[in-house]
Amino acid sequence: MTSLKDIVVNAYQAQYGEPPQFVVRAPGRVNLIGEHTDYNDGFVLPMAINRAVWIAFSPRDDSQVAVRSLDFDDPVQFDLQHIQKAEPSPAEYIKGVAWAFCEAGFRIKGLQGVLKGDVPIGAGLSSSAALELAMARAFATVSEIDWDASKMALLAQKAENDWVGMKSGIMDQLISAAGQAGHALLIDCRTLDLTPTPLPNGTAVVVLDTGTRRGLVESAYNERREQCEAAAAFFGVSALRDVTLEQFKARENELDPIIRKRARHVITENERTCQAKDAMSAGDTKRLGELMIASHISLRDDFEVSSDALNIMVESAQQHPACYGARMTGAGFGGCAVALIDAAQADDFVQQVTQTYTNQTDNTPALYVCHPTAGAEVIH
Ligand code: GLA
Repeated sequence: MTSLKDIVVNAYQAQYGEPPQFVVRAPGRVNLIGEHTDYNDGFVLPMAINRAVWIAFSPRDDSQVAVRSLDFDDPVQFDLQHIQKAEPSPAEYIKGVAWAFCEAGFRIKGLQGVLKGDVPIGAGLSSSAALELAMARAFATVSEIDWDASKMALLAQKAENDWVGMKSGIMDQLISAAGQAGHALLIDCRTLDLTPTPLPNGTAVVVLDTGTRRGLVESAYNERREQCEAAAAFFGVSALRDVTLEQFKARENELDPIIRKRARHVITENERTCQAKDAMSAGDTKRLGELMIASHISLRDDFEVSSDALNIMVESAQQHPACYGARMTGAGFGGCAVALIDAAQADDFVQQVTQTYTNQTDNTPALYVCHPTAGAEVIH
């Protein structure tokens, strides 16, 4: 099978009649635990995966940006001097990143490129962060800007928040920028401290795509964020990260029932995520699995961002003897779940869970083992 790298290089060569000067790869991610905690200044434990956006490109002498994606129809072309918003489309992520560089005071150069990715779109695996970080790495490369992963992740997050309009946290951009091969990263979303943690020996991480795609996620996501902010304001703190479970329990009855549930998820999820990192470091797969299961229940019942398909998939996974734990991953409402399993039984797990899930739904699932990879990088 031709690699994505070869595909983008060949397409560039065909379009411009010469080879590209650079190739960049930026990965999607799967989050093992710590969901909807990042915008509460909390903790997350994602890993960058071996599914990514690749771009072959060269600098230009003018201020034009010309990018053709082999995944979407319309080529993207704009002038860095006059970046203008248009209707929502993948092009807006590219423009948004260029805009965020300019806003931050960087003078970036024009470029021309061809891109393609294999992160499924809208599936909870951060295809948009992968696109943003691929573009950030490309602009940084042609403009000779040092690659500081946290700074670049913040810039890409600004593009997503203020250009695209999704008030997402920092997790997706930071793990796509700073991922490490073989490791998940515990991220403290307040300080942006990263603690690389290897996957326990003999385990595999499986992405379980329900075959459903989320709709209207933006409004539901932004609404959850507002509810969390309301809870933080009630406790008189800047973010729910600062509320302990004891403090929460002492006053939870004074909270509106919906806000109470949202806050309970975030506060308990932060605890679970830190415990999961410890369990992972200790190779305690049983405990890690239990925490993942508890996370799913909390997302389903308290944060209310799961879906029937996700619940069926998680239950199907948990029925298999190889499974330590499973949960929905990403923003929710559809897309993917993630399971931690005994690597030796991976083939049987994929086969059986596909069957169990298919027996209960009309959706077409896709299950695949993922490997933790490096973050956004220049390949050549
Ligand atoms: C989306 C957002 C992230 C994070 C997750 C939920 O992926 O982009 O910032 O909030 O949802 O954990």
